[in-house]
Amino acid sequence: MGLSPKGTLVAGSDYTRNFRPPQKLRGRARAISANVRNDTAGVTSFGGPGAAPRPFMNPSHPEPIPPLAVTIAAGATDCWPAARRLATALGLAVVAAEASELPFLPPFLLVVTPARLELRQTGLKAPGPVFVDFCAGRLDFRRRHGGGRSQPLARAVGLKANRTPTVVDATAGLGRDGFVLACLGCRVTLMERSPVLAALLADGLRRAMADPEIESVVGDRLQLLTGDSRQLLLGMTGAGRPEVVYLDPMYPHRTKSALVKKEMRALRLLVGDDDDAPALLAAALATAGERVVVKRPLKAAAISGPRPTMAIVGKTHRFDVYLVS
Ligand SMILES: C[S@@+](CC[C@H](N)C(=O)[O-])C[C@H]1O[C@@H](n2cnc3c(N)ncnc32)[C@H](O)[C@@H]1O
Repeated sequence: MGLSPKGTLVAGSDYTRNFRPPQKLRGRARAISANVRNDTAGVTSFGGPGAAPRPFMNPSHPEPIPPLAVTIAAGATDCWPAARRLATALGLAVVAAEASELPFLPPFLLVVTPARLELRQTGLKAPGPVFVDFCAGRLDFRRRHGGGRSQPLARAVGLKANRTPTVVDATAGLGRDGFVLACLGCRVTLMERSPVLAALLADGLRRAMADPEIESVVGDRLQLLTGDSRQLLLGMTGAGRPEVVYLDPMYPHRTKSALVKKEMRALRLLVGDDDDAPALLAAALATAGERVVVKRPLKAAAISGPRPTMAIVGKTHRFDVYLVS
């Protein structure tokens, strides 16, 4: 049994057989696209300790619902080969594009469309898709009008007219902060432990390589490593150490205003809270040549550990700066 010729899921199919709980993804380090360096020192996990998504239970179905599966956009049958490759790379099941014919849906789908890779939530009130687009929308606006080296993020990492540090963005997420720093001239290594987010990032980077305006930024200054930054950072020694390590761990959102961004809500559901941030801060402090910068909500406490040396306060966030040299 498996996918019918129409691509419809049938009971006892590959979907069921191939489904493996995301915890089993731990221990894999994987490069997902051409712009991604394979780093076997990295350990890929699905969300990390304390953050692995719990299996979802549907009261009307005896089996746990897989949190995530791969499919294609409706009618985009040319995308099946890419979808199957992605599913194999991530150890996920492939489900039929005719999702409505499924007996149940995982809460998240990675959807291969002709244009890009999208993360979609399922359900009646699901928000729109999440994807990485360095060439348009908010990131394009921020690249053109974001305040250059005087914006708080740039000041926090120590960018000056004559100084452009190397940066590890050890909590890459959707790559926005790392991309801004790369646009300002920094060489940035993005590290992300969620293989799903790394796949979205890799897709965004690949598409950006086809945009003449930012191809050089992406090609020359951004690279992506998939794995847990705590291990990846500690593997960086000697001349390979970055001057700056930048952290933006997921923090527990308690207020309505913090729940505004749909991407962050989706990310939180998928990867959970980054409860191990103090351990990541310790690894960052042991690795950075000059400083560690931690993005926090304006009123949040600093991450447990040493006190920050100073803070750069922006409109919506604060950047705690730990000078190490
Ligand atoms: C709030 S998001 C970062 C958003 C990002 N700054 C942006 O501009 O899109 C936090 C991300 O850090 C990742 N993360 C947290 N701890 C990590 C670790 N130890 N290693 C690698 N990635 C980690 C999470 O998986 C999540 O995707």
